[in-house]
Amino acid sequence: MTDIHTHILSNIDDGPKTENDSLLLLKALEADGITRVVSTSHFYSANKQLEEFVAKRDERLETIKRLIEENNINIRVYAGAEVNIHKIMLNYESLKPICFEGTNNILLEIPYELGDFEDNSDLIYKIMSYYNVTPIIAHIDRYDFLFKNEKNVTYLKEMGCVIQVDADCFDSLFMRARIIKMIKKDLIDVVASDCHNLEKRKPNLKKAYSLIEKKAGVDAVARLRQNASSLV
Ligand SMILES: [Fe+2]
Repeated sequence: MTDIHTHILSNIDDGPKTENDSLLLLKALEADGITRVVSTSHFYSANKQLEEFVAKRDERLETIKRLIEENNINIRVYAGAEVNIHKIMLNYESLKPICFEGTNNILLEIPYELGDFEDNSDLIYKIMSYYNVTPIIAHIDRYDFLFKNEKNVTYLKEMGCVIQVDADCFDSLFMRARIIKMIKKDLIDVVASDCHNLEKRKPNLKKAYSLIEKKAGVDAVARLRQNASSLV
């Protein structure tokens, strides 16, 4: 299985604090059946330089790759980022360093403080067309203007965005019902763990897929899994 949204690098965001925390998280991902992981540490474009983020991320990625090798973990890690969008992004020369490694796919996080759908979708459209990238919209289950409004999700999908939900949204019965309905309507493209630690935000993709299988069928799970693996 491929997990396209994870926080596994140490000491870069609100994910693992130490190398050992990263190692334990990798082992938990492996135990959950994950063999390919996109490392998507937070990048806040409004208050950090792109080059500074990429340099730090690449250094931490080297550490992760060493840990994987030393501990015989059967996971391949791909570089990426979870990019909190801001209009400053339109001034970058290229988005390539923060796309999923070797692709034009980029994980975009809509800022919580700017809860306006139109402003955000306009900016996403500009990012797409200026840089010829495919946005993956992170955890739409967190925004009322998305998970409570299927028209807005349809709008983003028709624009060419990939729609992602976090696996833990199935823990809430209310969210579960809504998201399963959206999966059945083909409005959700990808489920990812968005794991940060082994406490409240642990790898949990297997559990989410087995619930989706029960509620929406085996074909729905096959589609979601195939979508995830095709993004990297
Ligand atoms: Fe995340």
